[in-house]
Amino acid sequence: MFSKRSVVQICGFVFFFVVVHYAHGDLSYSVLEEQKRGSVIGNIAKDLGLEVGRLSARKARVDMEGSDKQYCGVNLRSGDLFVSERIDREEHCGEKPSCVLKFDLLLENPLELHRLSLQVQDVNDNAPIFPKDIIKLEISESAIKGAKYRINAAQDADIGKNSVQSYILQQNPHFVFNIQTTSAGRKYGELVLDKELDREEQQEMKLLLTAVDGGSPQRSGTVVIHVIVLDANDNAPVFTESIYTATIAENSPIDTPVITVSASDADEGVNGEVTYEFSRISDKSQTFFSLDEKSGEISVAGNIDYEEGSKYEVFVEAKDGYGLSSEAKVIIDITDVNDNAPVIYLKSLTNPIPENVSPGSEVGIINVQDRDSDSNRQVRCSIQQNVPFKLVPSIKNYYSLVSTGQLDRELVSDYNITISATDEGSPPLSSSKTVQLSVADINDNPPVFEEQSYSAYVSENNKAGSTLCSVSARDPDWRQNGTVIYSLLGGEVNGAPVSSYVSGERRHGGDPRCEVV
Ligand SMILES: *[C@@H]1O[C@H](CO)[C@@H](O)[C@H](O)[C@H]1NC(C)=O
Ligand SMILES: *[C@@H]1O[C@H](CO)[C@@H](O)[C@H](O)[C@H]1NC(C)=O
Repeated sequence: MFSKRSVVQICGFVFFFVVVHYAHGDLSYSVLEEQKRGSVIGNIAKDLGLEVGRLSARKARVDMEGSDKQYCGVNLRSGDLFVSERIDREEHCGEKPSCVLKFDLLLENPLELHRLSLQVQDVNDNAPIFPKDIIKLEISESAIKGAKYRINAAQDADIGKNSVQSYILQQNPHFVFNIQTTSAGRKYGELVLDKELDREEQQEMKLLLTAVDGGSPQRSGTVVIHVIVLDANDNAPVFTESIYTATIAENSPIDTPVITVSASDADEGVNGEVTYEFSRISDKSQTFFSLDEKSGEISVAGNIDYEEGSKYEVFVEAKDGYGLSSEAKVIIDITDVNDNAPVIYLKSLTNPIPENVSPGSEVGIINVQDRDSDSNRQVRCSIQQNVPFKLVPSIKNYYSLVSTGQLDRELVSDYNITISATDEGSPPLSSSKTVQLSVADINDNPPVFEEQSYSAYVSENNKAGSTLCSVSARDPDWRQNGTVIYSLLGGEVNGAPVSSYVSGERRHGGDPRCEVV
C-alpha cells in the first residue's frame, strides 16, 4: 500500500537519478595564463573516476559555449586536460579579480555532461601605462603648501599584486606624491605642494613619475609632469555628478548620443572655459565611444555588440584654462537586441545506422546555442514530423536524436532530418539544419521464389543439355545480402538421384534453368 508520501519519495528518487545520469559533479582546475600549448592542466579520467581506455570510445571532448576557439583539449590516451590555445586572462576577464572560464565536458554513449571550470591565474605580462606621456599642470604661485593636484592613475591590465603597486616621483624641492583612494575604492595620485613656488625664481619644471607593479619580474611605466607656474588665482571645474549612468541598445548607429557630462568652473573668461577628455578608457571602449571636447557629449563611435560586452566604464576629465581638472565616472550599460539566430551544432552522429536498431536508440547529439541574452537566447528546438526520430532534451540545450520506431532499409534507406530552432526574441529568429542519415542493411529478408511451384512438361528421350524450365527468386536486401544462389535439393527419380537427370545452371544475366543431363 502506497501512502501519498512514499509516492512522492519515489518520484523524488527517480528524478534525482535522472539528473545524476546527465550531469555529474563539476570539475575545476587552475592554470596560469599564457601557458605553452600542450601544457597539462589536470587529468579528467582520474578526477571523474573513469577508465582511461573508455575516453576514446565515449568521444570525450571539451567545448566552450559561444566560442569556436578550443582553449583546451583532452588527450584521449592519457586523460590529460591540456592547453590548446593561448589563454590571455586580460582578454577574458579584464579587471575582474577572479577569472573563471566555463567549459562543457561531453561524453557519449550515453550522453553525459560535466561542467568544467578553469580558473585562469594572472601572470605579470602587462606594464603600467599612464593615459598620456605628458601631464601639463598650471599652478598658481600663490598656491599654499599642502595644495593637491590630481594625477590620473597609471593602468595595468594585470590584477592583484601584478597591477600598479606604487609610484616614485623624481627627487625635487617642491612636490611630493601621495596615493589616495576614492570611496569606490579607486586609487589615484596627488601631487602635493611641499614648498611654495616662486614664479620669479622658476617658471616651469619637468618631473618624472614612475609607476611600478608588484609582479616578478617587475614592470614599470613613466609620465612627465610638466608644471607651469602662474601668477593668478584659480578654481577647478566641478562636475554636476560624480558618477553618470547611461543605457544604450547594442547596434545603435554611429553618432547616437549616449549622455552629456557637464562641469562648471567658477572662474571668469578663458580661465573658466571647460574642456572634456577621456582620462581613463580602455582600448576597446575607445573604439565605441567618442567625446565632444567642448559640449561634453559622449556618442556612439563604433558598432557596439552586447555579446562582446554589456557594460563599459570610462572616466572623463574636465579641465579649465589653467589646467586645473576634476574627474567623473561614466557607466554605460548596453541592452541586448535579438540579433543572433540560434545555431544548431551536430555534436555526434552514428551514420549509417543498422536497420535493426531498437526504437529509443540514441543516434546523434545536437547542441543549440544563441549568443543573445535572457528571452532572446531561449531556444525551442523541433524536428520535422514524418520521420521515425525525435529530439529528447537533455540539460543546457543539448538534445539526443533518438529513433522512435523500427527502421526498414528496404522501405526507406535515407532520411533527411530537418531540425529547426527558434528563439523567443521579438521578432524571433530561427535557423534549421538538415542531418542526412543512411540506414545500413541487415540480412533480414529470405529470398522468395516468384512462384510457389513450377511445372514443366517435356517429351521423353530429351537430348542432354536441353532446357526444362526457368525459376527465379528475389531478395530485397543489399548487395551480397540480396544476392540469390540456387541449388538443387537432393531427391530421387526411380531410385536414381535427381542430379543424374537434371542440373541447374545460372544463365549469364538471366534466371537459372533446369536442364536434362
Ligand atoms: C536528401 O537530400 C539530398 C541532398 O539535398 C538529396 O540528394 C536526397 O535525395 C535527399 N534524400 C531524401 C530521402 O529526401
Ligand atoms: C549484410 O547483413 C549483415 C548483417 O546481417 C551486415 O553486417 C552486412 O554489413 C550486410 N552487408 C551489406 C553489403 O550491407
